[in-house]
Amino acid sequence: MDESLHTVTTMPTARQPGRPFDPPAELLDARRHGPISRYIFPGGKPGWLLTGYDLIKSVLADSRFSSRQELMLHPTIDYTDAEFSPAPPGEFLFMDDPRHSRYRKPLMGKFTVRRMRLLTERVEQITADHLDAMEKAGPPTDLVTAFAKPIPAIMMCELLGVEHQDRDSFREQIDAFRDVEADGEDVMAAYTATRNHLAELVAAKRAHPTDDVLSDLTDSDLNDEELKGMALFLLAAGLDTTMHMLALGTFALLRNPDQLAALRADPALIDRAVEELLRYLSVGKTFMRTALEDVELGGRTIKAGSPLILSYNTANRDPERFPDPHVLDLHRQDGGHLAFGHGVHQCLGQQLARVEMRVAFPALLNRFPTLRLAIPAEQVPLRPEADIADVYGVKSLPVTWDA
Ligand code: HEM
Repeated sequence: MDESLHTVTTMPTARQPGRPFDPPAELLDARRHGPISRYIFPGGKPGWLLTGYDLIKSVLADSRFSSRQELMLHPTIDYTDAEFSPAPPGEFLFMDDPRHSRYRKPLMGKFTVRRMRLLTERVEQITADHLDAMEKAGPPTDLVTAFAKPIPAIMMCELLGVEHQDRDSFREQIDAFRDVEADGEDVMAAYTATRNHLAELVAAKRAHPTDDVLSDLTDSDLNDEELKGMALFLLAAGLDTTMHMLALGTFALLRNPDQLAALRADPALIDRAVEELLRYLSVGKTFMRTALEDVELGGRTIKAGSPLILSYNTANRDPERFPDPHVLDLHRQDGGHLAFGHGVHQCLGQQLARVEMRVAFPALLNRFPTLRLAIPAEQVPLRPEADIADVYGVKSLPVTWDA
């Protein structure tokens, strides 16, 4: 065993007290030891933990590292005797090409910058409706339920073409199946209900296509099971991520009053501000890959079959890539964060997420110039990170303002 190599045996998730936006101290410490550490998986299997920006980016661009679900090892749960099956139809984040591109390709034209910008007006309208409701109800309010959760959910309903009259029940189901603290049986019931709902939706779009992504996809050679799987996966990939960026992003701005003032003073800063919040918060924080062959990486030999944990949030705080990485600086010029990943699996919905953030943050700040936390910052409940794959965020964000 190489004694000079830093070794991590448990994937840390706990944030340092008073530093809710920073990666866990042990991960930052691992980065200080070098961009790659040894990681001992439950059951004793050796693997790797990558925390350096350049190294992670090179892995993401290298087809010798696989995303296939059946090859993955869980970093914290001992599944020594379990056999993993390939990802179900439509869950293409956990597939390699050619299976991966069978699903990604038909979707690509639906999420272009141009197409997403056309949605700006809709996002503006939906945002304004929610701000009206907040203003009418008066302070205080929970920004997650009043604002951060419904905006991405309604946009997703529009994208999939969920009919207006079905939206409330659909949103209740999808909320229930993503509730990390709910009882397992309730989650399963909500998941089944959502699947059934999507099966009906796919059938309806085949019979009577409308102007939405799901209807467009009925023109491809994908079967109903695949379309349902893709829709389900889009819900899983696009809702919590954007919701937590909106809520945690507002929390971060409120905790950095100089940056908040800079954004209020210069609305043109919003595009850069969104990129910096994405880097600083990195809500999609950890992803896995598996080596398909022996690969030399960072001066180490990664053996075929070795699992790799990629810590995107630590990479986005890499001092060799971002000067003063722990400072939220909305004027930062050095883009290129990994918050949406990189390479063939780079986030497909990133333009939609950007449009939502570029509209929602300024609209919220303009509407409530005196917006502030309604409780001490230390009491803001952080999302429990039961699994390292969980998206990071706050459970609720109580805010108030001068009415
Ligand atoms: C993939 C983050 C919003 C759909 C990814 C990946 C990241 C990410 C890091 C790559 C994972 C990997 O490397 O293994 C985010 C963040 C978002 C966001 C931070 C919000 C701010 C969305 C939205 C949608 C979406 C709104 C859909 C409407 C997807 C899909 C993939 C993906 C389909 C898989 C792409 C593939 O495997 O080819 N996302 N995402 N995401 N995201 Fe997002």
